[in-house]
Amino acid sequence: MQKIFKHIGTIVFIGFIILSACKQPAKTIKPGEIWLDNNGVHINAHGGGILYHQGTYFWFGEHKIEGKAGNKAYVGVHCYSSDDLCTWKDEGIALSVVEDTTSMIVKGCIVERPKVIYNAKNKQFVMWFHHELKGMAYKAAMTGVAVSDRVTGPYTYLRSVNPNPMCWPIDYADSLKTKDYNFEQVKRWSPQWQEASKQGVFLQRDYKRGQMARDMTLFVDEDGTAYHIHSSEENQTLHVAELNEDYTDFSGRYARVLEGKSNEAPAIFKRGDKYYMISSGCTGWKPNAARSAVANHPFGPWTELGNPCRGTEKEMQTTFQSQSTYVLPVQGAKDSFIYLGDRWTPENAIDGRYIWLPIEFSEDKPVIRWHDEWSLNTFN
Ligand code: DGJ
Repeated sequence: MQKIFKHIGTIVFIGFIILSACKQPAKTIKPGEIWLDNNGVHINAHGGGILYHQGTYFWFGEHKIEGKAGNKAYVGVHCYSSDDLCTWKDEGIALSVVEDTTSMIVKGCIVERPKVIYNAKNKQFVMWFHHELKGMAYKAAMTGVAVSDRVTGPYTYLRSVNPNPMCWPIDYADSLKTKDYNFEQVKRWSPQWQEASKQGVFLQRDYKRGQMARDMTLFVDEDGTAYHIHSSEENQTLHVAELNEDYTDFSGRYARVLEGKSNEAPAIFKRGDKYYMISSGCTGWKPNAARSAVANHPFGPWTELGNPCRGTEKEMQTTFQSQSTYVLPVQGAKDSFIYLGDRWTPENAIDGRYIWLPIEFSEDKPVIRWHDEWSLNTFN
């Protein structure tokens, strides 16, 4: 009799386990919806990027506030952590903007597109971000750097710079270094203006003070070399710039890529031995059609692969109403990548949404399709 009770007990226990497992909400990603963190608050990490460190994903992004003013930095860079990319824990503010009006990261400046990488050599976490100075709109075109010994911070702000002063890009023709473009006479956006910017009129202009750096991302290659990729030269040309050994400065080696093609929002990832880039055109906060490109080395040459989006004309022309910010390699799943984009809401910045979609490959070209709801099982 006792034995029968024991068996019934075991069956009831197993049934309970199965039932409670079924009751767990499915772990899915719903692009464009409100994404609640562990405190029930919409995640506030726009223009962000993700670092996978010791079994956990850490998401860093711009902390926005209510209203139009919320596009400026009044708080800093917010960090969240997750094991499954579906449930997120608020880890607080990793980098804070400050009250001190003499500081470059005073409240009211612009801090955009923060990205964090880990330097295994000195066990330091390094954050870079697009930085514009208070009251100067988007004129400064700088990039800022901050470091921490802990992944979630607090990060110590080091400095902001215009990269690579007094350095010419690799493979840049000597004849262009001193070319006289007679630029005062040239009308903005005319074919002559476009040709001059493609050749490097703004590169030459900024040679001494350092180059412009607006929308940016970071990429660490398998050999540990880190690259800072940014929209430069009045957003006409991207610069892929190598960082130094501790990732806190530029090495002086950089390449101009997709010259004169006006790319913003670059995101780079590696599949096999090829490097891929997803980027956008330049239309402010309004979405436009995404672009993609491939190369055998981060320095290029990059070959354009066209719009990676598939769907309706509107979806393709607006990248599902989003702009790229990062491409995340999924851990433990070979050749599996997630497109991370922002659906900006500039009138009420804090309400911006996250458009995350799986990247497929067709004939070795990235393809992105809309999903109302999807899970990481997509990659199995
Ligand atoms: C487009 C950029 O991609 C964003 O990060 C932001 O700088 C907006 N422009 C501002 O208009």
